[in-house]
Amino acid sequence: MEIIIRDNPQDCARVAAKIVAKYLRGKKGPVLGLATGGTPEGLYRQLISLYRAKKISFKNSTTFNLDEYVGLTHSHPQSYHRYMKEHLFDFIDIPEDKINIPDGTACDLRQTCLDYEARIKASGGIDLQVLGIGRNGHIGFNEPMGSLSSRTWIKILTENTIKDNARFFEDAGKVPRHVITMGIGTIMEARHCMVMACGWKKSQAVKAMIEGPVTAKWPASALQFHKRTTVVLDEAAASLLFHKEHYGWVEKNLLEWQNYEMP
Ligand code: PGA
Repeated sequence: MEIIIRDNPQDCARVAAKIVAKYLRGKKGPVLGLATGGTPEGLYRQLISLYRAKKISFKNSTTFNLDEYVGLTHSHPQSYHRYMKEHLFDFIDIPEDKINIPDGTACDLRQTCLDYEARIKASGGIDLQVLGIGRNGHIGFNEPMGSLSSRTWIKILTENTIKDNARFFEDAGKVPRHVITMGIGTIMEARHCMVMACGWKKSQAVKAMIEGPVTAKWPASALQFHKRTTVVLDEAAASLLFHKEHYGWVEKNLLEWQNYEMP
């Protein structure tokens, strides 16, 4: 794993935007995996600024979102369809038919999951997958103790995740219990994963993901087996890392061509 630590969430968002921009500029038809939640909001603001400054364009890209709540209509204020419109898609030039988000309102949820996997495959696979991490180590909505090789499927949220996400709803009772999420196996097939985490509340999960044993108890730890994962952390999220200084040392000694900040 490549670990990048910055002083604050704003600097993390800037670094993450540079990584995404590299794919948008460097690949003909980049396929981006996108995430929702509080963490990537700063990244999306940065991407919108880069787009407005004409430094990037999404017109040739395809996107796949990680997950969606079951039962929320696309226009529901807390649906991830609506989140993506409000935080990114309404402000950039991505063609509507290139946007893919799991459909939590489908009559046949099982078929919709199989179709989602097939669409990812047909696109040529995800080049860069953006990820947040839950306090319990989930990525996407893959909660602890699920299979580390799962595919896109319907999952049941833990009570803790429901409590964590209740801040976006009127109360915890309104948070759907079921979700569609890319599986850990799906995420592991992305060619490059970029995990973002900020704040001390994420520090335990971050430590388990990077330095703990690989275990279904902390699903993100599966990324230790991923061939190219970049983790972008602020100081608070990185605070429990045992090898923190070493990660800074590695970043300082990257060869020029390895540097993600290069234009
Ligand atoms: P957050 O969620 O960005 O809202 O903290 C991250 C996650 O649960 O994956």
